Amino acid sequence: MNIILIGYGYWGPNIAKNAMASSEWNLKGICDISRERLEKAKILYGSSIEYYTDYVELLNKDDIDAFALAVKNDVGQKIAEDVLKAGKHLFMEKPLAKSVRDAELLKELANDNDVIIHVDHIMVFHPVIRKIKEILDSGELGELIYFDSSRVNLGPTIKEDVNAMWDLAVHDLAIIDHLSNGENAEHVNAVGLKGYAAREALTYLTIQYPNFIAMLKSSWISPLKERQMIIGGTKKMIVFDELKMDRLMVYDKGVNVINRKNNEYGKYEVEIRAGDMYSPNISMEDSLLNSLNHFANCIKSKEQPITGADQAIRILKVLEEADKDISRKRKPNE
Ligand SMILES: NC(=O)c1ccc[n+]([C@@H]2O[C@H](COP(=O)([O-])OP(=O)(O)OC[C@H]3O[C@@H](n4cnc5c(N)ncnc54)[C@H](O)[C@@H]3O)[C@@H](O)[C@H]2O)c1
Repeated sequence: MNIILIGYGYWGPNIAKNAMASSEWNLKGICDISRERLEKAKILYGSSIEYYTDYVELLNKDDIDAFALAVKNDVGQKIAEDVLKAGKHLFMEKPLAKSVRDAELLKELANDNDVIIHVDHIMVFHPVIRKIKEILDSGELGELIYFDSSRVNLGPTIKEDVNAMWDLAVHDLAIIDHLSNGENAEHVNAVGLKGYAAREALTYLTIQYPNFIAMLKSSWISPLKERQMIIGGTKKMIVFDELKMDRLMVYDKGVNVINRKNNEYGKYEVEIRAGDMYSPNISMEDSLLNSLNHFANCIKSKEQPITGADQAIRILKVLEEADKDISRKRKPNE
């Protein structure tokens, strides 16, 4: 199938590289309003693909099956609407839209035009997350009780179109949504600090789900880089640290409830259990390539992607609620 990439800025080159590597896709061309960016692409791809500055001329071409969008959030909506209205499948960089309303409009357009929206919630296609899902679904972890995530760094850029939460916590929310089979959040609380940014450069987001809680830290103003998620289960616990050699550790640690009747003094109701730990073998895979291939398979099978519009809307609902909470708490001089 033929795909056009719109947006060859910071992230677009990764999509181009993986579309080239994919046996499912033929990267037909790249479109960017910046000629300078297109020149960069030409150095890599030469005459093997086509180059455009205006996507509108491409919408009605019969030999194009899909468009991948890697543009900033504030310009993405109009392009996404045009793509869907033209009856082309859409691979959209996260977040899908600026609001739940905009995302619902895109979902409606996709349904009306019988095309697929795939949101690049890339972590869902990470081999470690696939392994964690297997462990969870096997019952080894017991019931989910909490997620604790830290996604912090100094920059690398301070974005203007989104705050740190919309840029970073969106990954954690996609992981939680996937692992919990689409649980809806019940309560959302957040605080944020603008610092040097147009929007919040640091946010703390806490969420109550029906059976577990989550705490997500997102920052562009940390001296250290962290990409760590702790997943607590009633039986075992998991630590996923993207920056470590042993990226995934499963801990047989937890708390055992002691039957009061057997306790002589009735003093201790629980005991700490610290058993073994292990690190499962994880295959080396490119998550973005997996994401692009899943998109292609969904188009072929006419199935909804696991990171389709419905998942994106659940995630956007949390982000919107969190934004409202941050605004409510904002100091008058901020
Ligand atoms: N999945 C991930 O881990 C990940 C990582 C980084 C960025 N992203 C996402 O990728 C998207 C793009 O981010 P970025 O940092 O690459 O932005 P960027 O500003 O670096 O690049 C956007 C590019 O789009 C081009 N552009 C703008 N309007 C256009 C138009 N109408 N037609 C054609 N081209 C146009 C710009 O010239 C620019 O080259 C965002 O949605 C961001 O959230 C995802």
